[in-house]
Amino acid sequence: MNKLILIAASALLFAPQVSAKQTLINADALVDVAQGKIIESVSVLVEDQRIIQVAKQGEIELGENIEVINLAGKTLVPGLMDMHVHLTSDASDNFLAAKGNSVPRQTVKAVKNAETTLLAGFTTVRNLGAAGYSVIAVRDGINAGEIPGPRIWAAGHSIGVTGGHCDDNFSPPEAKSKSAGVADGPWAVRAKVRENIKYGANTIKVCATGGVFSKGTKVGIQQLTEEEIRAAVEEAHMRGLIAAAHAHGTNGIKAAIRAGIDSIEHCSFMDDEAIQLALKYGTYLSCDIYNTEYTLAFGEANGVPEENINKERQVGTIQRESFRKANKAGVKMVFGSDAAIYPHGDNGKQFSRMVTFGMTPLQSLQAATINSAALLQKSEELGQIKAGFLADIIAVDGNPMENISLMENVSFVMKDGVVYKD
Ligand code: ARG
Repeated sequence: MNKLILIAASALLFAPQVSAKQTLINADALVDVAQGKIIESVSVLVEDQRIIQVAKQGEIELGENIEVINLAGKTLVPGLMDMHVHLTSDASDNFLAAKGNSVPRQTVKAVKNAETTLLAGFTTVRNLGAAGYSVIAVRDGINAGEIPGPRIWAAGHSIGVTGGHCDDNFSPPEAKSKSAGVADGPWAVRAKVRENIKYGANTIKVCATGGVFSKGTKVGIQQLTEEEIRAAVEEAHMRGLIAAAHAHGTNGIKAAIRAGIDSIEHCSFMDDEAIQLALKYGTYLSCDIYNTEYTLAFGEANGVPEENINKERQVGTIQRESFRKANKAGVKMVFGSDAAIYPHGDNGKQFSRMVTFGMTPLQSLQAATINSAALLQKSEELGQIKAGFLADIIAVDGNPMENISLMENVSFVMKDGVVYKD
């Protein structure tokens, strides 16, 4: 025993020094999202997966064996964060045919879409619901360095009531099909949270109201009771996880906020009381205001049933007004796009819509960086290009504060200090 320890200790002592890998990025400018300003002629020094120094070009002393990346004409932006994606499906697939995809098939799609999302500049995503723990496996593969993709917070199965938005209502009754996240009653809900965590979920999602793309649900109507939502939130928080609620309708939004939910997804029908409640509780809103355009333009061609396209028509305009009002009132906003309703990789298209509906370009960038990092309780290492932070850095050709559409064409992507697109 003692001998073994000695051998192990001397192996450590005499192991060759593995020197850290350093990369220096030079660029025309950098968006300091926290201070809300552009820093010109900048250099960022990265060592392994972290940023160790940010300075004016020429001020950083170059060691040996340092790789230099020159991004002339480009502006650096912190790696983007999308708080609502579904990597397991594609908008352009036939809507009803895709319901027949097996979990392995969905997993293959998630592997593909994870890479597409990363190359679009989104270095962190929250996957709010997937069948069979598929995205948890994809997350683990990415973390193990086996496949490229963003850093993922994965919810496992979305939790909701029998016949609700997150159940399978498309099959006939005799098929007895039921989504794995169906739970009725507070203890059943708690059990589902526990089951998700058991199989690796690192965030929780509940379906508080009806939705656009489910069958037979009323989009504005509450489904989980406040007591059930509170059970999920308490259980998630006790286990150190944050929880998100799909909620379009006013009552469901309010119930979820009062139950202590961390973020409201969609947030379509926000009245003044809902806005005041979000302010009071510090709840984040994650409003997917781009995809209504995609669904109304391409939904029919993709085989989306008339029932669902009709519900999209009810939601679109009012959702964007809710977004405008809530942002104006100072509610905390994150970037959540519900990618899968529109094609993965087009996530950046939502920025210009956030500006059209009332945000400044800076606010839209903050939603996708520091605000999302704060929601994930990772403000100390995600969302900024700053010494000590993880090296998630992207670049666009020009100044996004002057032209926010530049966020649709990301030309450089580094995640964890590794370059994926140059
Ligand atoms: N997953 C959401 C639902 O089915 C998508 C809503 C899309 N529409 C919108 N206007 N945000 O309810």
